[in-house]
Amino acid sequence: MPEKRPPFVVGNWKMHMTVSETRALLDSIVKAVPDLGTARIVVIPPFTALGEAARLLANSSVALGAQNLFWEDKGAFTGEISGPLLRDIGCRYVVVGHSERRQFFGETDITVNKRVHAALRSALKPIVCVGEILEERDAGRTMARVRTQFDGALEGISPEDIRKIVLAYEPVWAIGTGRTATPGQAEDVHAVLREKIAEKYGKEAAACAIILYGGSVKPANSFSLFREKNIDGFLVGGASLEAESFIPIMKEAMKAYKEVA
Ligand code: PGA
Repeated sequence: MPEKRPPFVVGNWKMHMTVSETRALLDSIVKAVPDLGTARIVVIPPFTALGEAARLLANSSVALGAQNLFWEDKGAFTGEISGPLLRDIGCRYVVVGHSERRQFFGETDITVNKRVHAALRSALKPIVCVGEILEERDAGRTMARVRTQFDGALEGISPEDIRKIVLAYEPVWAIGTGRTATPGQAEDVHAVLREKIAEKYGKEAAACAIILYGGSVKPANSFSLFREKNIDGFLVGGASLEAESFIPIMKEAMKAYKEVA
């Protein structure tokens, strides 16, 4: 395994943030960028704030992403958003298969896979989420669950395209609950995911892959999580809504990176 990869931190705003709140938060994030070295930062506003965010980030290294997309490129699908539309508004990334979509909106490994292919068709980098529910963890089925989700989500993905995909391990029991996975628990799953990439796509692809952790990431736990060998950054929900918590998360990750790289 080569040296540690620089921190990759994504703020998933979920169903929060008006256009004026977006302006204020992005203003603080953009101002903090010079202190964050080589960290890669992606913000994921709601669809309604993407236009304003794209305008504000036009001259910044902060990248823009969306929270979901439909698998068809266009057509009569009222209420859906396509890859070409996201790309047109300035998105570079799109979250696919978030556990909230799986839990509340009927997302399955099959529909996640269709969305991954749709994202790639539109030159969007998918941030593909996997993670077990509490019953699965308690029953010792965590690894089996994430392996199945990995295989399902990445069905038919070429060795060339795997390099465009970011994986996010998000234990469902840790999302929005204040209960974070310990660095050891997260690292064990991240190591399995990296092994899966190595098995399917080779060691080099595995060494380059970005695998994020998500689930109650805060300034107080980001340093110890990022120190783990296979944790490359974070998918942050609640704590990404305020500059006072999001920026310190990135700074802590940078600090850990400088220590272990
Ligand atoms: P949380 O959400 O940080 O609020 O737990 C993480 C996520 O759902 O991506």
